[in-house]
Amino acid sequence: MVNKILTQYGVDNASELMNGFHEIGNNLLSELLQYYSSPNEKKTLKMWKMKDACKMIGRSEAFLRKLEQEHPIYTPSKDQNGTRQYSLNLINRIRDFTKTRIKRPKNSEPIILSISNFKGGVAKSTTTLHFIQKCALIGLRCLVIDLDPQATLSLGFGYVPDINVKESDTIKSALTESPKNILDIFQKTYFDGIDIIPGNLSLSNLEMSLTDLSFQKTQLDKLGMPNLRLKSALDVLSTNYDVIALDCGPNLGMLTINAVSASNALLVPIPPMMSDLGSFVTFTGTLSILFEQMQKSFDFFRILLTKHPESKESKQLELLIRQRFGTFVMQKNIVSSVEVEKASSIFSSIYETQNKSTKSLKRALGTFDNVFYEIFDAFISIWETQSNTKIENIKYLKEMMYGK
Ligand SMILES: Nc1ncnc2c1ncn2[C@@H]1O[C@H](COP(=O)(O)OP(=O)(O)OP(=O)(O)O)[C@@H](O)[C@H]1O
Ligand SMILES: [Mg+2]
Repeated sequence: MVNKILTQYGVDNASELMNGFHEIGNNLLSELLQYYSSPNEKKTLKMWKMKDACKMIGRSEAFLRKLEQEHPIYTPSKDQNGTRQYSLNLINRIRDFTKTRIKRPKNSEPIILSISNFKGGVAKSTTTLHFIQKCALIGLRCLVIDLDPQATLSLGFGYVPDINVKESDTIKSALTESPKNILDIFQKTYFDGIDIIPGNLSLSNLEMSLTDLSFQKTQLDKLGMPNLRLKSALDVLSTNYDVIALDCGPNLGMLTINAVSASNALLVPIPPMMSDLGSFVTFTGTLSILFEQMQKSFDFFRILLTKHPESKESKQLELLIRQRFGTFVMQKNIVSSVEVEKASSIFSSIYETQNKSTKSLKRALGTFDNVFYEIFDAFISIWETQSNTKIENIKYLKEMMYGK
């Protein structure tokens, strides 16, 4: 009988080893983040050339030149070659000045979108990161909340979860102490127009405390049902935003249930592979029971085919998925692209990649843009219906999306 721990390939004190890994790993993440976001040690957002700024603002180069002469506050910075460099903040200020910035109508509701699937690794966080950045790039006011203890999304915004995020920075206190705490928690990011509530491992404790029935009973009067806490918190500040995106973990735990309960929109990313489809089918069974209890409806519900390898097999499966799930599948897919992998390996998105000239990057950007334009078309229609008004400046957004 073997009664001794074999250590040739193993470890005597696994706890100590993991503790060491934890420390080394956090330092490594910090160094990498600083390396990729130098020179300021903090992530900064790229700048746009005049040609791109014109497209984003909906005005000509001649207009922007005249504007900066007449109103020096709209003067962009210049690089060492004297080329104009527009920040997103300046682009948004010029949009406000020229009234070309798209605005959600007053009588409409912010879109609260959960990006969720039972399965891990299906591109929930990648989709959330790119989506919220694209929303900000078109000038919308955005909030993103990381509800996954793995905190992949927070990394994308330059936070090392265990170093730069304290438990008090996460959504926890708004769900366990007072919904109003959310007003003190959200933080501005380096990405103009995006606020964040980051995540870290403490979200797993939150998950456990929300499912602790005896503890929750004592909290019911003060805080309401544990599955509706995020909704109460978002009710406090959601009108400050046009879009709120919630990145869920790969489970149907209490935080995901909170996200779905608080949402009026749900996007389910699925790579067109048999195992991912299988997991989605299981997910729908559980959601069906959950939605019945909640009497849930959504203003927007779509399945998004992601990480599409475009192989013969995946195309066949796509066809079947489209036949069976019909219009609930987004018309456009996101392809699997090495550019996305490259960007995520440096905690970034392809919208932040500087050199846009490669064919593969253009293609990857095209697939993300097309999916998001399809989503924006839906959001605009939802907002117009809710407010019973036409959105002003839609012309500029459409030009930006589809060209003149
Ligand atoms: N379009 C794509 N092309 C290539 N790789 C992709 C694409 N989308 C996502 N990935 C990669 O797939 C991996 C998983 O993506 P992501 O972290 O977004 O999934 P997730 O569903 O959030 O995972 P988890 O369930 O662990 O939260 C990452 O390495 C990411 O870079
Ligand atoms: Mg994720």
